[in-house]
Amino acid sequence: MKFAVFASGHGSNLQAIIDAVKAGTITGELALVVSNNRKAPALKRAQDAGIKTLFLNPQDYATPTSYDRQLTIHLKQEQIDFIVLAGYMRLVSAFFVKTYARKILNIHPSLLPSFKGLDGIKDAFTYGAKVTGATVHFVDEKMDHGPIILQDAIKIAESDTIETLTEKIHKIEHRIYPKAIQLFVEGRLTMKGRRVEIVEKP
Ligand code: GRF
Repeated sequence: MKFAVFASGHGSNLQAIIDAVKAGTITGELALVVSNNRKAPALKRAQDAGIKTLFLNPQDYATPTSYDRQLTIHLKQEQIDFIVLAGYMRLVSAFFVKTYARKILNIHPSLLPSFKGLDGIKDAFTYGAKVTGATVHFVDEKMDHGPIILQDAIKIAESDTIETLTEKIHKIEHRIYPKAIQLFVEGRLTMKGRRVEIVEKP
């Protein structure tokens, strides 16, 4: 199975995925890294790992759908089976979600459905939550809403700062995202309504 990672920024999740592919704990082929940000360090990480990259400039497209149509052309060319969003700071269009229905994964740094949006870690911290975490989910038409694949939680200690909490949550992300991707590759995720069930290994 071939997959693409979409990333706009730092790319620490991308790095965890690259490392897992190298280690053989993800058995899918990471064939393409896509970014909407020419300067994303994630692109450099991909290049360093010898992975093909694609930068598409949103300013060259009149609408999110036309941007995503172009993306789809590239993904079809590369025979990409599924998409992994890893810090991709763009909402994917309804067209894209339909084209890759149940084939787009995302990671969010909170226990969804709490603290959706751009700043899940800071929002949980400043709200005063005692527990937070990270969520891997399928992408649907609504932001941070699709069926949940994996979650893991941690307590927010009184001694935590946004920085220490961010570090702890990234550690969780780097552990659960490769795991979720491999479950998808192995075809072990089944849907009951919006519940995702993990099929045991035979
Ligand atoms: C992660 O916290 C992820 O949950 C969120 O964006 C952040 C990306 O970090 N969607 P990185 O670029 O993978 O380091």
